[in-house]
Formats: sequence, structure tokens, C-alpha cells
Amino acid sequence: MRIDIITVLPELLKSPFEASILKRAIEKGLVEVHFHNLRDYVTDNYRQIDDYQFGGGAGMVMMIEPIDKCISALKEERTYDEIIYMTPDGVTLNQKTANILSLKENIIILCGHYKGVDQRVRDHFITREISIGDYVLSGGELGAAVLCDTIIRLLPGVLNDETSALTDSFQDNLLAPPVYTRPADYKGWKVPEILTSGNFPKIEKWREDQAYKRTLERRPDLLKE
Ligand code: ADE
Repeated sequence: MRIDIITVLPELLKSPFEASILKRAIEKGLVEVHFHNLRDYVTDNYRQIDDYQFGGGAGMVMMIEPIDKCISALKEERTYDEIIYMTPDGVTLNQKTANILSLKENIIILCGHYKGVDQRVRDHFITREISIGDYVLSGGELGAAVLCDTIIRLLPGVLNDETSALTDSFQDNLLAPPVYTRPADYKGWKVPEILTSGNFPKIEKWREDQAYKRTLERRPDLLKE
């Protein structure tokens, strides 16, 4: 898989890809991540990427031309399955979307800033608009990092124990059950006995019950889906 990220702040985005699972995925060649500084696609001397909005009002709008130039240059090299725009008024990211996107070959992620991008960018280039939650970030970069993490960890070979992504919260619309490790008794706080019983069918049933109980308490909306 290849991910191209278009941003005005590449330095804000790079560090999540330089550690742990994402770093390993890149080193193993399971994913390629490329950063494109929008200012490199500006022709004027001021390297201006935003301007005042038509009709007046506070806040700058990202201009269409540098974005068009950047996306068009990328599209000349290869075909893209998705061109995603990170924005608080997009569709809220969930595990299902991450699963779908993890099956794509090439995707572009455009990070918004200020008041966002000229609507014509959204109308003519963007195939999917994603928000990472009902709050406003200073820009789309942190959202893009979150999106990339959810996608990349699903790629075959990225996680050591390949089955572990399948038992994450939200797969099957259930939150994950509680987990414990040694010691079995810490200051009198004991691990549920069933987990040390060695009775694996019963342990599996216990985990399913706990996952259901936790989902019912915390996210009943997931059970309705
Ligand atoms: N840009 C600003 N806020 C955002 C959000 N909540 N999700 C994605 N991109 C954003």
C-alpha cells in the first residue's frame, strides 16, 4: 500500500511514522508513506497557499491551485483508489472505514487548515471526507496520523500476532474484554479465577460475556447497529 499525505506542516506529521509499529511496517516495505509540502506547489514568491474568503468573514481558505497541482502531479504517476480530505465536518472515522481503506492500493490524504479548503477541491477531487471526532483540531495532520495508524496496523504482516487486530475493540461491534497479566494476586487484587483455570472454552465464553457487558454499559449504540 502507498499513502501520499498533502500538508502544509510535514514536520508535524513525521514523528508518528518514526516509531514502533508504523516504523516497522515502513521498514518491512508493507506500506510506503510520502509527505508532500503544499508550498512546493505554489508559483508566487510568497509561497501563499491560502486567501480571504469570497463574501467576507473571518478566516483564511486554502486555495485550489496548489492542491490541484499537487494532486495532478501524483495522479500522473499512478492511479489512486481514494482521495481523502481530513475535516471536522467529514464522516466520523470508525473501524469499518479503517477496514475498507486497509484494502486499497494507493490513497491520498489531504490535510485541511484554517477555514478549510475551497469547496471546489471537495467537489472535484475528494472521494471521501473523514473526521476523527466531534472536536476541532488546529489542522488535519493529527487526524491523518490517526487515520494512517488505524489503516496500517491492519495490513497483513504488520502486527506480530496477526490475529490480535481481530480481537480489538470495535471489530464485531464489541468493545474488547478486560485483560490481565502476572502477578495473579497483586496486593490482594486478584485476577478473575476463570482466567487461571485452564478451561479454554469457559474462558472464551467469559471473554464474550465481558465484551458484551462492557459494550452495553459504555457504548450501547454499537449493539443497535
Ligand atoms: N481537522 C480539524 N478538526 C478535525 C477533525 N476533528 N477530524 C479531522 N480533521 C480535522
